[in-house]
Formats: sequence, structure tokens, C-alpha cells
Amino acid sequence: MRRKLIVVSNRGPVSYGRGPDGSRTAKRGGGGLVTALRSLVQYHEVTWIASAITEEDRAVAGQTLDETAGDGSPYKLQLVAHDRQAYDWYYNVVANPMLWFVQHSLWELPYAPKVDAAFHRAWSEGYVSVNASFAAAVDAALERTPDAAVFFHDYHLYLAPRMVRERRPDAALVHFVHIPWPQPDYWRILPKGARSAIHDGLMANDVVGFHTERWRRNFIYSVRELLGEDATARTVTAPISVDAAEFVELAQSDAVLRAEREILADRPEKLVVRVDRTDPSKNIVRGFRAFELYLEAHPEMHRLVGMLALLDPSRQDIPEYAEYLGAIQREARRVNDRFQQSGWRPIDLEIADDFAKSVAAYKQFDVLLVNAIFDGMNLVAKEAPLVNERDGVVVLSENAGAHAELGEWALTVNPFDVKGQADAIEVALSMDAGDRRARLEAIRAHVREHDLNRWTDTLLAALDRVAAPARR
Ligand code: ADP
Ligand code: G6P
Repeated sequence: MRRKLIVVSNRGPVSYGRGPDGSRTAKRGGGGLVTALRSLVQYHEVTWIASAITEEDRAVAGQTLDETAGDGSPYKLQLVAHDRQAYDWYYNVVANPMLWFVQHSLWELPYAPKVDAAFHRAWSEGYVSVNASFAAAVDAALERTPDAAVFFHDYHLYLAPRMVRERRPDAALVHFVHIPWPQPDYWRILPKGARSAIHDGLMANDVVGFHTERWRRNFIYSVRELLGEDATARTVTAPISVDAAEFVELAQSDAVLRAEREILADRPEKLVVRVDRTDPSKNIVRGFRAFELYLEAHPEMHRLVGMLALLDPSRQDIPEYAEYLGAIQREARRVNDRFQQSGWRPIDLEIADDFAKSVAAYKQFDVLLVNAIFDGMNLVAKEAPLVNERDGVVVLSENAGAHAELGEWALTVNPFDVKGQADAIEVALSMDAGDRRARLEAIRAHVREHDLNRWTDTLLAALDRVAAPARR
């Protein structure tokens, strides 16, 4: 059934810029949330509320824009221009790195984080105030379409649902958390006021969704522990997916074919691929160390194997992220300096925002390395097998949400165990073709069957179960 949805996320499906001739250009938003949600507009009547990020976004903020998705489906987009200082505190101090690092268990606790006066100020004048401006935008949208369900996304917006609920006790609110939920004790890194407000804000929704039982269970524990409430009835597990047809089509597009020719021109016989944002949670540095251990143990494979790392630079105004990008570059150079020979560089590191090349690499991998420290889902693990043409093997972290679904057909690794990852690369590269093909096809069949429609239907059915009776 087509439903009216008000989708709310920090990053929108497109971001605007100016072309050389001065005309307005639209660029696809990065990351898993936007990739997945872009398909939602095919099936539902969507008004999407997101932050204005670029200058050109700010210029059109406040208007209702008629946008069309890649497949031609129409939707409405409203960008909210927040106060610049408030947005900086909200995005660069509170949401990233603080909440992201808490939820992916990334802090080195003896040294960080610093919950100082600056953080408290960023919380109250940044995170709270940006959430309030989102809540006001949702309120205005509900004024126009009172029968729409509101669909909040992710860790940027934990407080907005409570603010909307206070004004509109009858609104149907669902929130999907795209990232892991850690155990209750880890939430105690945050001061009491902040951690309580986060849990309370989420509990203002009718339904809160997670990718896996593991994240959902942790949420139920932490609500019980921190608020003394029972969240069971309003939580649901719904693993997100991707639009399989879109990727199959994309794989044959001119841009991808062009990028693929580039890869083919100098690919080694065996190719290990990784595609990530340059995020500390993705465990890129350890991935290079694992590859180094593999090369150390397998001199016979020198010149025959290479790693292609396509990394989208992410959140570079945040020191932790800028430092991590530096660590990635240093580590790749160290491994290359140790092993390279004329005509062969073991790690081809490309720091660029190049989606077409990512899809081309998906087609070409013999091993896909997804070794995230923690990851809510990891869509790369679902997308790449859909279009792969080499019976490639997926090496998958046990801490990626995707592992709950795909683990039996992947090679499981512990993200901290670099020796284990090196061994998995070896097993993947020496696996016979029949076994490789069977695993790849099983992953494809699973992703095709558990599609994005199923994800939305699960969430909306839960919403109807919880919200509708409460409003009768
Ligand atoms: P995260 O959401 O943490 O970034 P995921 O693996 O879940 O991690 O999602 C990454 C998404 O970004 C995938 O859907 C992938 O197709 C997409 N992607 C990869 N490279 C680019 C790029 N250069 N621009 C936009 N999206 C990209
Ligand atoms: C992950 C998060 C999203 C976020 C994306 C890209 O997928 O779950 O909420 O949009 O990363 O990060 P960015 O900070 O660039 O929006």
C-alpha cells in the first residue's frame, strides 16, 4: 500500500552545487542510509526533510522542492538551514564523533572522550537546538499532511521525536537506528542528562527499529537500565537492504564500464577489494596489516595479488577522522614500501568520492574485505555480491550487522584479529570455484529476497500494530 511518509534524516538524498556554467547541480548523498532510502520514494508518497549542507542547499532551504529519484519517481524535499554554529556543534562535536564513537565502541577510554564544558555547550546549544529545528519542520509538515507517518533516521535525531510528541500526541512516529546499539554500561560515558534524553527521545516513538536482534536487545537492556522502562513492545528488528535491480542496471552503465576498464587495465591476477568511507569504525588500518601478514606468509603470491582500497573521504572537519585518514595513508605506504617491486604495488589506495568506480570494483573482486570494528549493517557486503563477475568471496566481520544474515556464506573474521584476517584472505584465495560460486549465489538470493520493500513493510506493520490501537 502506498503511504504518506515524512522521512527525516540529517543527510538528504541529494545535495546541491553549482556547475561551471552557474546552473544548479544535484549530487547523490553518500553512505548507507541514503543509498537505501532513495528507493523508498518508489513505493510511498514521500516528503523528505533533511539538513541543508552546502551553500546551494542553504539557498533553497525552506522551499518544498519537487525532486525525482533515479527511476523517475517523484518526491518532495525540504531542506532545513540550521544556525551554522549550532550545526557545527551538533554534527562535528555531538553526533560525530561522540555518539558515533559511543555506538561503535571506538573510544580509547583512558584518554578520550573529554566530556568538558565545550561538550556540554555543544550538546545544549547544538544538538538540542538542531533537533528542535527538525521537530519544528516536522510539525509544519504534519500540519499540511496530518495523516502522514513520520519516519526518523539515525543518531542525529534522537531528541526530535519527544519534541514532536509533546505537540502532537497522536502522531505516528517511527525511528530507525542505522548503527549499532552498545551495551548499557558503554552509554555511561555520556553524562546522565544526555544519555537519559537520548533514550527518552527514542521512547517517544511508537516504534524503534534496528538491523539486528543484537542491537535491539542492547537497546531493550539500556532502556531498562537507564530509564527503568520496558521497550520490548515498541522495538522491531528489520535488516535494511538495497535495490538489487538498481545495482544490476548500474553495473552496465557507461560510467561504471569506463571505471571497470581502468581497473582491468592494471589489475593483478587476484584482487582483494574494500570500499568504505574513511571511518575509524571500518577498521581500514587493521585491514592493511592483515594484508601485510598475508603477503609475508605468501611470497609466491607477490605480483599476483593486490588490494584495491576505494575510500570515500568522510567527516574531515573532525580531528579524529582527519587523523584516521592520515593513519590509513601511512599504513598503506608502509606496506607498499616493504613489498613493492617494479610493476607491482600491493595496495592501490584511492581516496576519492567515486561511486562508479566502487561499483566497478564490486564486479571485479576475488575477495571482498569487510572487517568493520562494529557496523550497523554494512551495505557494501550486500551490494558487491549482486554484481560480482568473478565468483568472489566475502570476508566478513562478525560485528557487522550483515553478518547476522550473510555469515553462513561468508568467511567470518574477528575484526581485531589481524592474523585471522590474513588466514581468511588465504582461504578465500585458494577456495575452489564451485564452493565460491555456491556462496556467492546464496548471498545474492538472500539479498534479492530480503529486499527493501520487506524492510519498509516490517517497520510500517509494526507501526500499525503499536500506533493504531493506541490512537483508537
Ligand atoms: P556507511 O553507511 O557506514 O557508509 P555502508 O557500507 O552501509 O556504510 O554504506 C556505504 C554506502 O555508500 C553503500 O551503499 C555504497 O554503495 C555507497 N557508496 C560507496 N561509495 C560511494 C560514493 N563515492 N558516493 C556515494 N555513495 C557511495
Ligand atoms: C552512515 C550513517 C548515516 C550517514 C552516513 C554518511 O551511513 O548511518 O546517517 O548519513 O554514514 O555519513 P555523513 O556524516 O557523511 O552523512
